[in-house]
Amino acid sequence: MGTGDSTMGPGNILILMALLHSGTAFLKSEAYFNETAELPCQFLNSQNLSLNELVIFWQDQKKLVLYEFYLGKENLNNVDPKYMQRTSFDQNSWTLRLHRAQIKDKGVYQCIIHHKSPTGLVPHHQKDTELSLFANFTEPEIVQMSNVTENSGINLTCSSGQGYPKAMKMYFLLKLENSTELEYEGVMQTSQDNGTELYNVSISSYVPLPDGVSNVTIFCVLKAKSMKSREIEICSKPFCRVPRQPSPIAHQPSWIIAVILIFLILCGMACCLWKRKKKQRIVVSNKETTRMEKDTNEETEERMKIYVPERHDREVQCAV
Ligand SMILES: *[C@@H]1O[C@H](CO)[C@@H](O)[C@H](O)[C@H]1NC(C)=O
Ligand SMILES: *[C@@H]1O[C@H](CO)[C@@H](O)[C@H](O)[C@H]1NC(C)=O
Ligand SMILES: *[C@@H]1O[C@H](CO)[C@@H](O)[C@H](O)[C@H]1NC(C)=O
Ligand SMILES: *[C@@H]1O[C@H](CO)[C@@H](O)[C@H](O)[C@H]1NC(C)=O
Ligand SMILES: *[C@@H]1O[C@H](CO)[C@@H](O)[C@H](O)[C@H]1NC(C)=O
Ligand SMILES: *[C@@H]1O[C@H](CO)[C@@H](O)[C@H](O)[C@H]1NC(C)=O
Ligand SMILES: *[C@@H]1O[C@H](CO)[C@@H](O)[C@H](O)[C@H]1NC(C)=O
Ligand SMILES: *[C@@H]1O[C@H](CO)[C@@H](O)[C@H](O)[C@H]1NC(C)=O
Ligand SMILES: *[C@@H]1O[C@H](CO)[C@@H](O)[C@H](O)[C@H]1NC(C)=O
Repeated sequence: MGTGDSTMGPGNILILMALLHSGTAFLKSEAYFNETAELPCQFLNSQNLSLNELVIFWQDQKKLVLYEFYLGKENLNNVDPKYMQRTSFDQNSWTLRLHRAQIKDKGVYQCIIHHKSPTGLVPHHQKDTELSLFANFTEPEIVQMSNVTENSGINLTCSSGQGYPKAMKMYFLLKLENSTELEYEGVMQTSQDNGTELYNVSISSYVPLPDGVSNVTIFCVLKAKSMKSREIEICSKPFCRVPRQPSPIAHQPSWIIAVILIFLILCGMACCLWKRKKKQRIVVSNKETTRMEKDTNEETEERMKIYVPERHDREVQCAV
């Protein structure tokens, strides 16, 4: 233990010295991929200096200039091509906005202000900002690997993508009729896009179904890091499975559709009866009006039929 501590010591001191040497701590800034990042300068301007007597610029870790405001005017001569037309300077808040932020843009940036004095430009203010980037993973999607309907279990694959940073965990969540929940973790495969640096993830796993259980709803859950050091869980749409039925889109929609179909049939019968009664009452009736009536009836029935699946879709939600 003692030797361990003594070897740790110098390292810690070095890190501490590096921090002290760099002066003030970094500001932290976070942005979503392809959105606007903010690089604040946090300049209070207590001396009420005019922009005409200041030189303000931002540079990255490689000292490439993002933007420069030189004695009251934009100066694009020193701006690196990779930052050209991607920035805007907010003069009220002394903040530089970096548009269409890419994962590659993560890192430390410096805002530097020089003051024009009779002897030349003098350093006046500096602020360092560490920029982190995030991208939301897409909703995970479950796909059944084979058509084999076995009562003991199924092979499933779940995938999601376009996220950053790397996903932490991905698993299948089984919900049984008696509200018991079971988790199955698979080996997570991660691939990174060469251009955007975003991650794709997937798991493939044999998901055993408990004995004597007929009704199982399966979800796929992805756990990832989000802004402000939060961890979020993104859930797939439910994957329902009832054994001995080839279609994984199970009983739940079918019984709702059945109920509505019965309702429509009853409705149709009622309408027919009503129409017949009406015809009997108005013996001399115009043929055209009856046809119009029939048309509108068919139209409403059509509309109701189309409306059914839409309403069901909206009910589907993740209850993790
Ligand atoms: C970035 O956003 C722009 C619109 O602002 C869009 O056209 C483009 O497809 C997006 N790029 C990526 C990689 O998402
Ligand atoms: C700062 O200077 C401007 C003119 O340059 C003046 O209008 C403003 O009142 C001053 N503000 C303060 C707080 O002194
Ligand atoms: C990412 O997801 C969060 C919720 O988890 C949402 O508030 C935010 O708007 C999303 N951002 C983008 C760029 O999709
Ligand atoms: C599922 O079965 C159908 C025919 O019943 C076949 O066309 C399809 O390729 C099968 N899919 C898989 C993943 O085996
Ligand atoms: C699942 O996959 C394994 C091998 O990958 C295979 O042996 C098994 O029969 C499959 N089971 C089902 C139900 O598809
Ligand atoms: C299956 O379970 C769900 C809830 O988990 C329930 O709403 C549904 O009625 C069940 N279906 C059958 C046929 O038991
Ligand atoms: C729910 O059903 C499963 C499988 O039949 C069983 O193992 C579990 O103990 C049940 N849980 C409860 C709370 O009844
Ligand atoms: C990630 O997934 C997207 C969409 O599913 C696909 O277009 C892309 O090629 C994948 N990238 C990698 C590196 O696998
Ligand atoms: C990324 O893609 C470029 C060409 O599209 C290729 O030259 C390069 O080797 C790739 N890098 C990696 C790490 O795959």
